[in-house]
Amino acid sequence: PTIGIVIPAAGRGTRAGQGCQKAYRRIGGDTVLNRVLKLFRSWNTNCPIVIVHHGDDTSLLEASIDRDSNVYTTTGGVERQASVLQGLRFLCSLPKSPSHVFIHDAARPFASHRLLNDVLESLIEQPSTGVIPAIAVSDTLKKSDSNGLIKATVPRDGLFRAQTPQAFILQTILHLHEMAATSTSSYTDDASLLEEAGLPVRIVQGDSQNIKLTYSYDFKEGERLLLANSP
Ligand code: C5P
Repeated sequence: PTIGIVIPAAGRGTRAGQGCQKAYRRIGGDTVLNRVLKLFRSWNTNCPIVIVHHGDDTSLLEASIDRDSNVYTTTGGVERQASVLQGLRFLCSLPKSPSHVFIHDAARPFASHRLLNDVLESLIEQPSTGVIPAIAVSDTLKKSDSNGLIKATVPRDGLFRAQTPQAFILQTILHLHEMAATSTSSYTDDASLLEEAGLPVRIVQGDSQNIKLTYSYDFKEGERLLLANSP
């Protein structure tokens, strides 16, 4: 397969505090978004990468990344799925559009090459099957009401925490996102669209370091990971 990358980075990042969208915050001296760019560039030297950003963030974006000629930017939408759709449309409009796409949240700068290779390997084995990294749930799961009172213990067998990058045939995931845009359903990841359409999605082993920077304490955890992994 030929691979393109879509990086949704158009969220407002309000849960992380600090008043600045989390993709543009620095961690260990580099912006979160530039770390994601470097991750993919050092893995696949020339695949097209489309960054989807908020229209208000254009100058912040340009100041935050080291761009090369195969890095493109486009503006996103109000919801993550609208942003992904814009990125997929852009990738499809390129003169040499790739056969497959990796969709990776800007908020996950600590994905590893091992993880990207495992996703790609699984995709090569069965190119029409979507692939996502995920981690089996190890905690006991409780469901509570809005007062914090437990209603049930949820059996954790077969439950996974989904990560990105998630990989798909470009035309398939584009078509499903185009359809989703005309409905009222909302999705927090891209594999959900295949699942709903009855198409197969395979799980490969996720990476515990591939955390999503969402809250302020995730940034502290990120700093800790960088220190622990530095030579
Ligand atoms: O909000 P959440 O943490 O699920 O966002 C996951 C990713 O989707 C982030 O990288 C965020 O920037 C992106 N996003 C987007 N457009 C939105 C909302 C979120 O690109 N409207």
